Amino acid sequence: MAREIRTVGVVGLGAMGAGIAQLCVEAGVETVGREMTAELGERARDRIAHFLTRKVDKGLLERGARDAAVGRLSLTTDLSALAGCDLVIEAIVEELAPKQELFAALEGIVGGDAVLATNTSALSVTEIASATSSPERVVGMHFFNPAPLMPLVEVVRAERSSDAAFEVAYAFGEKLGKHPIRCHDTPGFVVNRVLIPLLNDCVRVLDEARVSAEDLDAGMKHGAGWPMGPCELLDLVGIDVHVHASEALWQKLREPRMAPPARLVAMANAGLLGRKSGRGFYGYAAS
Ligand code: 3HC
Repeated sequence: MAREIRTVGVVGLGAMGAGIAQLCVEAGVETVGREMTAELGERARDRIAHFLTRKVDKGLLERGARDAAVGRLSLTTDLSALAGCDLVIEAIVEELAPKQELFAALEGIVGGDAVLATNTSALSVTEIASATSSPERVVGMHFFNPAPLMPLVEVVRAERSSDAAFEVAYAFGEKLGKHPIRCHDTPGFVVNRVLIPLLNDCVRVLDEARVSAEDLDAGMKHGAGWPMGPCELLDLVGIDVHVHASEALWQKLREPRMAPPARLVAMANAGLLGRKSGRGFYGYAAS
């Protein structure tokens, strides 16, 4: 199994999937991106092309290299187009049932030694793998938002992951220029197990200390060295995404700090989702 990854499939080209696909094409790997509609696929390609063009503008990438990278991305709406992939990375909706359905379908499409990876942030990789008859080939590859910029990838060993599949994923993380870390399939893995309750604490402090979002952000940036404040970060990640992940950890761990604060739940219900909806803790101009 531990062989060179020539072609990668990325299923789901939202913010995370598009970022992962960008990393793959920049690393010189042929990439097949699958979305539900051609329009969603084109939107992801435009996003990738935009960020690569910005790198050209800033002298970080040759124009020819940018064009070659964009050319390595092919788009499809048809899962069977992933048949030739050595590795498939899933970045679809954070719900167990659709992920299980996808993995069960994928194992019938890809070759026998292909590795299947999920980018889930808070679901169990073991439970996703249990929908397949070859759970040994299933691992987690958890990237961080924004995937092209954040150096970490958590490589997650599920209960039945094989050493070979795990090492393929680890080596591929390195090939993407990431800093991979090895961990086991526990709720939230490493970073979200720490970060999600911490962000929840930050939101509770907003109300308890009657501090503004701006001042809380300034506090954590200038007093704790965070690169961005917690409210800015929640807006970047997506309030709905955070609430969903927080709920998943709460379900598994039953620790009160894991439960999403009421303020965040209300924001998610009101459509105040952060950058992607134009308004969260802060307002954003349409991009
Ligand atoms: N995709 C690709 N490229 C991007 C991008 C994206 N989403 N966003 C920005 N870029 C590119 C842009 O071209 C940008 O340059 P431009 O503005 O001139 O076009 C370039 O990257 C640099 O961007 P910035 O100038 O904004 O970079 P900064 O130096 O300010 O750093 C940051 C930005 C890396 C996001 C930094 O603020 C940071 O580290 N923030 C913390 C983020 C974090 O903690 N993420 C983890 C979230 S938790 C998570 O993901 C877990 C999940 O399971 C929920």
